[in-house]
Amino acid sequence: MNKIAVLPGDGAGREVVPEAIKVLRAAGLAEQLAVEEFEVGAEPVLRGEPALSDSTFAQVRQADAILFGAVGDPRVSNVGYAAQVLLRLRFELDLYVNLRPARLYDDRLSPLREAARRPVDLLVVRENTEGLYVGMGGRFKRGTPDELAVQEDVNTARGVTRILDYAFARARREVCMVDKSNAMAFAGGLWQDAFAAARARHPDLDARHLYVDAAAMELVRDPTQFEVIVTGNLFGDILSDLTAQLIGGMGVAPSGNLNPDSGRGLFEPVHGSAPNLAGKGVVNPVGAILSGAMMVEHLGFGEAAKRIENAVATALRSGECTRDVGGSLDTAQAGDAVVKYLGD
Ligand code: IPM
Ligand code: MG
Repeated sequence: MNKIAVLPGDGAGREVVPEAIKVLRAAGLAEQLAVEEFEVGAEPVLRGEPALSDSTFAQVRQADAILFGAVGDPRVSNVGYAAQVLLRLRFELDLYVNLRPARLYDDRLSPLREAARRPVDLLVVRENTEGLYVGMGGRFKRGTPDELAVQEDVNTARGVTRILDYAFARARREVCMVDKSNAMAFAGGLWQDAFAAARARHPDLDARHLYVDAAAMELVRDPTQFEVIVTGNLFGDILSDLTAQLIGGMGVAPSGNLNPDSGRGLFEPVHGSAPNLAGKGVVNPVGAILSGAMMVEHLGFGEAAKRIENAVATALRSGECTRDVGGSLDTAQAGDAVVKYLGD
């Protein structure tokens, strides 16, 4: 029995996570997964409690895997609180790999012209615990015309090496490392050195490098050229929104935050709480459902994961999906459509 901590969070997260659980159960995993739900996000904050309490954190860290929705609520003015919940989980559980696959399930979902469409099937491997996200720095002379803000970009040899090795381990053909070493020579230099060492350890695979600006351009020009893209925290954040759009938009993109050494994992759709869409039954559950599939694959149920992914692809191809991807179903109906195709 695997203990799953479920954290729907706010807004759209509360609508899509139940659909993911519905699909996991329908895929025959009800007996294998002990699901326990925890409250994080705006509701506790509005009661004057922390968005993620220490006691919730202590319980969540015991779980075999975490299924996360999204956090963010316009009623909470502190814009940083959502990041604190998610970044605390990523950092304190040392979930150093952020996996963001982009697979085009139906040609009509591509925004690109014919030639650049198929078959997009790439994986962004984003470093998830360092870089510009560590929160080092400060604001000096705050609120005055002389104010100075510093946000440090922290890159460690250990952190960079482990994410590069993970990326090489996932690739069958090629790893593309993305940085900005032409302008940021210190951090970029460390990435370059670690990349040279990693590619020497994996002589069987092709390895190439792109600056992040060129990578953004190449992803739009011809995304089919990429297999595994490995990069730092901020560049991975930005490029994975771009790759989400290449496969139909934020509604369909899944992600996994992993520590391959401890086995811990947190799985979440790439989209956020979408306050402008939440509560109307229109949000797309596919990103959450595919994140659920990634979670059970991580737990050793590879066959069920494949069935879920195939069912999602069939539902999308037959137009049985939400409006953002060209269908007319509501959130729960879109979840039902995936359930319907599980047997195929
Ligand atoms: C993501 C999100 C987060 C990030 C935010 C909410 C802090 O954009 O998961 O991509 O930047 O990592
Ligand atoms: Mg993001």
